[in-house]
Amino acid sequence: MKLIYKSAKRHGLSGPRFILGDTDWHQRAQDTVVALRKNKTSLANDLAEDITVLLARTHRVETFRECHERIIGRLERLCNKAQALLLPKIVVGVTGANGGIGKETLLHAAQSVFVKKVIGLVRISGRGPAAGNVMDLTDRWQLDRLNICKAAIEIRTYEDLEDTPAVHEPVDVFIHTVGQGRKPVPLNPDTLKPIAPPPTRQELLAHNQSVLKDVVDYTHRACPGALHIFVTNPIGHRLMQVVLEKGVPPEKILGFGGELDSARFRHFIRQALEAEGHCVLDVRAQVIGEHNDNMIPLQSSDVTFDSGVTLPLERCLAEGILSAQSVQKIIKRTIGRGMEIVDSQGTSAVRAPARGLVVMLEKLLRGEVVNGLSYRPFRHGKLSFVGGPVRLKNGLALVPEPFDKHSSLTPSEKACWLKSMQASCINACHSHS
Ligand code: 2OP
Repeated sequence: MKLIYKSAKRHGLSGPRFILGDTDWHQRAQDTVVALRKNKTSLANDLAEDITVLLARTHRVETFRECHERIIGRLERLCNKAQALLLPKIVVGVTGANGGIGKETLLHAAQSVFVKKVIGLVRISGRGPAAGNVMDLTDRWQLDRLNICKAAIEIRTYEDLEDTPAVHEPVDVFIHTVGQGRKPVPLNPDTLKPIAPPPTRQELLAHNQSVLKDVVDYTHRACPGALHIFVTNPIGHRLMQVVLEKGVPPEKILGFGGELDSARFRHFIRQALEAEGHCVLDVRAQVIGEHNDNMIPLQSSDVTFDSGVTLPLERCLAEGILSAQSVQKIIKRTIGRGMEIVDSQGTSAVRAPARGLVVMLEKLLRGEVVNGLSYRPFRHGKLSFVGGPVRLKNGLALVPEPFDKHSSLTPSEKACWLKSMQASCINACHSHS
């Protein structure tokens, strides 16, 4: 049974205290205080004081659950706030700003402490859902006593992205939500059964390739140094080929999928354990590979219970905490969640993808590893575009990360991973236009 209080011993504390998720919160807090002290602004000093006071309270908490609720959660918020103060703010462009995910993504980007300006990009200027959305959001933010939107917001057409002074303040990161989502299958009026099998994300390929072609053309020409994040389906190497052909370098292309699938996997693991009466404090769940039926939910995902004990999924199985049947049900539901939502509401998911895109961007800006589809070296000089650990280095360039101890692969997972790598690879020389 893997207990997780090694950092507590280092800080002379008994009992599980500070490791949650993959972060040693005590160490992160101390590093943040050092960085804030160097900043010498009053806000930085206030934050340093708040973190120091919170750390001092460590000696007064008795249980892991109390530490998790009273200390770690608040440390995380303070450290993230401090990093947002210390890191440069960026300009985000949201393509498809008239669409469901586009409007919701614009909301979350505008509320991010890392963003100084959001440009919603549309085909035709003037009236339209994007313009109305910004008016509605502007009114909404007046209702919160503390204005939670710090960013300037503009709606522009792709054409005028080049004309306006984008060169003086270029977009740093484009979040592409353009493209069509899946539609539900009509039901037979007599049997109320679907008249055809559910559509796959792959069926959207031809249409969304044509949409992305000119959107990427405009955005990459206007802001050639930008990072491009895509939620457009089918997110994968075939769709990204049109992006490469427009001259976007592979290290500037990131697909959104794994963060969403992992969140769904976490949700269903927690739901199954709580249904058995367990108190779950944290679930670290990773889904890697492709964002489709070949996705790979990892058995090395683990659960931290309120006792402070952390068990990988395969130990939950071995200890009878979860049955093999419920684990299979969790995996099946994770893989099928996207279509489950399409069937239920008639459109693809909006809330989770929109929030997940901005959460992933914020994690990248904090220097953290995210679970995204990126180009990573494969055999014989090929590049493969699959989902796995990746982070930003050298400014806004992506670098794939090796799997760490929290996402070790079983032999069968490794076989699936290699199959996805093989199915999603291109010749590195073809990665340039
Ligand atoms: C989903 O899985 C939209 O592909 C996205 O919901």
